[in-house]
Amino acid sequence: MDSLAAEFDEWYSTMRASSAGDDIHQRHLGLPPRLLSTSLLTWDGIAEVVEALRLEPGGLLLDLACGRGGYGLEIASRTGARLIGVDFASSAIDQARALASRFASVDAEFRLGDLAATTLPAGSVDALVCVDAIQFKATADSFAEMHRVLRPGGRIALTTWEAVDHGDERVPARIRAVDTSAGLTAAGFAEVVVRERPQWRAAERSMWEEASALDPGSDPTLRSLREEGLRVLPTFDLTRRVLATATASGPIGQPVTSR
Ligand SMILES: C[S@@+](CC[C@H](N)C(=O)[O-])C[C@H]1O[C@@H](n2cnc3c(N)ncnc32)[C@H](O)[C@@H]1O
Repeated sequence: MDSLAAEFDEWYSTMRASSAGDDIHQRHLGLPPRLLSTSLLTWDGIAEVVEALRLEPGGLLLDLACGRGGYGLEIASRTGARLIGVDFASSAIDQARALASRFASVDAEFRLGDLAATTLPAGSVDALVCVDAIQFKATADSFAEMHRVLRPGGRIALTTWEAVDHGDERVPARIRAVDTSAGLTAAGFAEVVVRERPQWRAAERSMWEEASALDPGSDPTLRSLREEGLRVLPTFDLTRRVLATATASGPIGQPVTSR
């Protein structure tokens, strides 16, 4: 297991012991208790992602870097899609499998895999969502894998952050490396649209403000949330929140078609 995967695995293990971090997340993002999130996508934001994915009942959705699976399960339950969730942290996958029982209508499967190596067959999924995770591996390999697993005409929605100024060294290197438009285009996606989402930022900022001011006591989830808040807030305005959407192109020479 690589060291980042081990870190995430341990992070997710601590979440089994306390729901205090989840309560804060859900309150600020407007999420219901069953939607376990380790990211910053709001309830209103989910509707925009659903619209962008153009899923049909019975279609197959890949939630890549799914964490505990909450967003994929929610999107699949709204659209009637089937779901495969992939993440490299085994504790997250175990918890996603357990969470699936709270979404009884969803045909869901969760498996270990990497952003750049999902293990899924080529052209096997109708839509792909990746919530607040591409920044952990915003490489050509990851974008190529996303394109490989989507059927021609399949849709992708990525939520993440990009630097306002990619040369600004105050922005964490991981975020400076994110260029969703260039990454998707180079991988062969068509209809690439990257929209800024300032309206998602208010919830995000208020969550970090609460987190950075709280007394975490001995709760490891609160400690981690507080540390992240203290880390994120000083460079908050140097990043922009984005929703990137695109369509997987067909084999060379063939036009993109949608179902
Ligand atoms: C901020 S969390 C978001 C999780 C989930 N998408 C959500 O919104 O609740 C980032 C996720 O990316 C996963 N991740 C990071 N790098 C990865 C990689 N190279 N391959 C697969 N998963 C990865 C982590 O394990 C973690 O679950």
